[in-house]
Amino acid sequence: MKTIWIGTSWKMNKNAAEAKQWLSLVIPALKECDADIQAFVIPPFPYLAQASELLDNQPIKVGAQNMCWQDSGAFTGEVSPLMLKDCGASIVEIGHSERRAMFGETDETVNLKVRSALKHGLTPLVCVGDSSQEKNWGVSIESVVRQVKIALHTISHDEATKVIIAYEPIWAIGENGTPATEQEAESVHRVLREVLIDKYGTDIGQEMTLLYGGSVNLDNASGLLDQPNIDGVFVGRTAWNAAGYVELLRIAHSKLWQ
Ligand code: PGA
Repeated sequence: MKTIWIGTSWKMNKNAAEAKQWLSLVIPALKECDADIQAFVIPPFPYLAQASELLDNQPIKVGAQNMCWQDSGAFTGEVSPLMLKDCGASIVEIGHSERRAMFGETDETVNLKVRSALKHGLTPLVCVGDSSQEKNWGVSIESVVRQVKIALHTISHDEATKVIIAYEPIWAIGENGTPATEQEAESVHRVLREVLIDKYGTDIGQEMTLLYGGSVNLDNASGLLDQPNIDGVFVGRTAWNAAGYVELLRIAHSKLWQ
């Protein structure tokens, strides 16, 4: 049985009190988390250290939403991988479509960040996704495969096992998004799996973690998790409420006993 990953990024949401409340509501549910479920939470930078402290020794990983590929220096406004580690992060989200669309993230900077994260022992969570226009043009696969290949450029076999890829169709994300059906998501994941197997061989390609994100909710999570090439879900709105996140953990748990 492969590990089922259940993660959330809060994006730019919550104040300190709300962050603390979410964490304290989720902690009791983690006790029931099977070893085959890997939970993770990605708060905004200012709450990273607080979250890591509160979740110390809990079976949940803490991540950051972005980082600079440089270790230190004159990069005003940026946060380095070393700082993330100091604050207790073990995962770093790289290349979310909101960063690509609004903050100038490119395939090239994604690759630089993946390399830097691995150099410092952080798990890169690389987000890739097709736009609705690309979907209409019938080039979703080309777009997503290109993003994955560039993100993994120069990444060795050993390093690849530490990389997580999240397929997050841009047309599925957020309030105006239409969730991908489980078949749509699986068809892209299957292609991505083939790309990983082609690059790294069957063992590593099969072992690598592929998550789905984009309007995951309490109704569609189970069907998505049933797909052979979907190793978990990366969730926004549904998990911002602690009860929603706990319910997603419960759904993952039910998969282990099917
Ligand atoms: P959503 O966000 O679940 O609110 O659609 C997903 C994401 O951006 O990762």
